[in-house]
Amino acid sequence: MATQETSQLERELGELLDVERFAPPESFRSGALWNDPKVYEEAEADWQGWWARQAEELLDWAQPWDTVMDDSDPPFYKWFAGGKLNASHNCLDRHVAAGRGDRVAFHWRGEEGEERDVTYADLLRDVQKLANALKDRGIGSGDVVGIFLPMIPEVVVAMLACARIGAPHNVVFGGFSPESVRERMEFSDAKALITVDGARRKGKTAPIKSAVDEVMGDLETIETIVVVRHTGVDCELREGRDVWYHEALEAADDECPAEPLDAEHPLYILYTSGSTAKPKGILHTTGGYLTGAAYTQRYVFDLRPDEDVWWCSADVGWVTGHSYIVYGPLLNGATSVMYEGAPDYPDKDVWWSLCDRYDVTLFYTAPTAIRACMKWGPQYPERHDLSSLRLLGSVGEPINPKAWLWYWKVIGGGRCPIVDTWWQTETGSILISPLPGITEAKPGSATVPLPGIDAAVVDEDGQEIGEGQGLLVLRRPWPSMLRTLYREDERFVETYFSKFGPRTYLVGDAARRDSDGYFWVVGRIDDVINVSGHRLSTAEVESAIVSHGKVAEAAVIGQADEDTGQAICAFVTLEGDLEGTGDLESELREHVAKRIGKLARPKRVIWTADLPKTRSGKIMRRLLRDIAEGRELGDVTTLRDPGVMKDLEGKFASDGDG
Ligand code: PRX
Repeated sequence: MATQETSQLERELGELLDVERFAPPESFRSGALWNDPKVYEEAEADWQGWWARQAEELLDWAQPWDTVMDDSDPPFYKWFAGGKLNASHNCLDRHVAAGRGDRVAFHWRGEEGEERDVTYADLLRDVQKLANALKDRGIGSGDVVGIFLPMIPEVVVAMLACARIGAPHNVVFGGFSPESVRERMEFSDAKALITVDGARRKGKTAPIKSAVDEVMGDLETIETIVVVRHTGVDCELREGRDVWYHEALEAADDECPAEPLDAEHPLYILYTSGSTAKPKGILHTTGGYLTGAAYTQRYVFDLRPDEDVWWCSADVGWVTGHSYIVYGPLLNGATSVMYEGAPDYPDKDVWWSLCDRYDVTLFYTAPTAIRACMKWGPQYPERHDLSSLRLLGSVGEPINPKAWLWYWKVIGGGRCPIVDTWWQTETGSILISPLPGITEAKPGSATVPLPGIDAAVVDEDGQEIGEGQGLLVLRRPWPSMLRTLYREDERFVETYFSKFGPRTYLVGDAARRDSDGYFWVVGRIDDVINVSGHRLSTAEVESAIVSHGKVAEAAVIGQADEDTGQAICAFVTLEGDLEGTGDLESELREHVAKRIGKLARPKRVIWTADLPKTRSGKIMRRLLRDIAEGRELGDVTTLRDPGVMKDLEGKFASDGDG
C-alpha cells in the first residue's frame, strides 16, 4: 500500500516537473493583501516616498524624520534621519495599549512537549523588568549585550529588553561553540552576556553556563552574566558578576519606559562569515531595519495578524530568526509558534503535529529541512491535518525544483503559494521574492525584486546583463541594509562597495536572469560555504583545522551535497611523517566542533601530501572544487607543481567510493 501511494506521489511530482509557472491559486489571490501589480509601479515612481509610506504606516514614531534617505556620504547611508522611535515599544507597548495585551505572541513548545503561551502583555512585563535589571547593572545606551540562548521565550525578552534601553544585542546561535561566543563578545566589546544553565537537544541536555565560564573567565569587558534557569543543570554563579534571570526580574522595578531613540541608533550586531577567518559584525540600526522587517513580514507573507498563526522554523540566532521570529511578527502584532527542538524529535512528524495543534497558517523554513522531510517520506505529514496552512516560504539557499514541488504538493496540498525569499544577513529583510497574490512562481527562482528594490545582474565591468548569468548587485539603498561592519568601516566599504563604487552594493552571489526578468540565484562567488542554509567561511574552518597540533596545512571547499546543499570538504596536510587515520579524522572533526561549532565539522577529510598552489603560494581552491565535484580540471598552468593534482585525483576517486 505504502509503495503504491509513494509511486503515485512520485508520478504526480514527475508530471509537475514540466510545469514552469505556478500562478497564485485563485482562492488565495482574490483575498490577498496585495493582488494588483500596480504596487511595483507605485514604488518605482517614487521609491523614497514608497519607503516613507511603509515606515509611517507600519511603525509608531515618537518623532517624525527630517530626511527619508541621506546619501551625502555613500556608502554610509542614513534612513529616516531625525526621526525617533523605539523597537520594543513598536513590538509590544503599542499592541498592549490598543487592547491586544492578551493576544498570544508565542505558542511555545518545549522539546519534551511542554507548552507555554506567552502573550504580548507577558512579554511587555518581563521586558521592562529585564531592562531595569540591566540598567541597574550599569548597562545603558550603546553598550553591547551578548545573548547566547536556546529557542525559549526568554531569548525574545532579552532582545527586546536590550532594544528598549538602546543597548545593541549581539546574539550568537546556540549551535556555536563557547569559543565562538567568546570571540564575538571580544570583537564587540560586550559588557554583558545573557545565557542559560543548560540546553536540550534531542532528549539530552548539555551544560552551557559552565562551558561558557571555561572560556569567558578572563574576558574583562563582560561585567555581568545573566543566567536563565532552563534545564536545572548545575552551574556556578560568580559573586558580583553573575545573576539568575528570574532573581534579577524579581528584584527589578516593573516600569521601564521605552526610550525614543534616533532612527539610526544601532539595534543589533550579528556576526556572520565573510571570506576571511574573522567573522563580520553586521550592524543594523533601528528605523530602517524595522521598516524592512515589518514590510516584508506583512506583504511577502500576506500576514493578517488577527487571523493568522505564523511559524518561522529558523533559530533565533540567525538573521532569519531576528527578522521573522522576533521583529517582523511582533511589529505586526502576530501570533507565532516557537519550537525548542529539532525537526525529528521526538519524531519526524513533530513540525506537522505542531502545525495541526496550533492551526498554523503561514509556515517558513529552509530548503535543507524540506529535503530532509522529503527523504523521511510523506507518511509523517500525512499523519496530521495541515489544512490550516495557506502559504509556505523558503529561505537560505536555492531551492531545487524537486524540493519545491514536494513542499507545494505534500505540505501545501497544492493550494498554498510558495514564496522563495532571497536575502542576507546584510540586507536585514527579504529583497527578492514573489508577492504571493501577484507573482507567478517558477520553482527554483526567487522571482523578482520587491517593490522599492532595485536589483540587477551585471558583468565584471558592471554592465547590466539583460538575460544570462553574472553578479548580483543592488543599485539603490534600502531601509534595512547593514550600515557598516561593526568597528570595521574600511572592511565594509572594501567588501561591498569597492568593486562598483559606493552606490552599487555587491551581494556576493552569482545569479542568472531569464527572459522574463526572473532572478535565479546560483550561489556564492566568494569563499563562503552554505551548509544547510548556514553560512561559514572556508578561511574560518581552515584556521580551526590548522590550529590542531598535527596539521601543517588545510584547504577547505564547499562540495555540492544532496541533503545540505553544500558540505564541507577539507584537504589536510599533516606535520612531518604523520599518517592520516580514521581516529585522527574524528579528532579533527571534534577539534573544529570545539573551535567553531558542530555545524562547521567537515563531512569529508582528504589527507594529502601537498596542496595545489600557485607560484606565489596561493591555494587554488577552484581546482579542489573541480576534483571534489568530478569535473574536468580547469586551467592548471599556473600551478607550482602540477603533479600534486594527479595524486589528489587518484586519492579522491578512491576515497569517494567509500
Ligand atoms: O547565497 C545566498 C543564500 O544565502 C546567502 C545569505 O546567507 P545569510 O546571510 O546567512 O542569510 C541567510 C538567510 C537570509 C545569500 O547570499 N540565499 C539566501 N536565500 C536564498 C539564497 N540563495 C538562493 N535562494 C534564496 N532564496
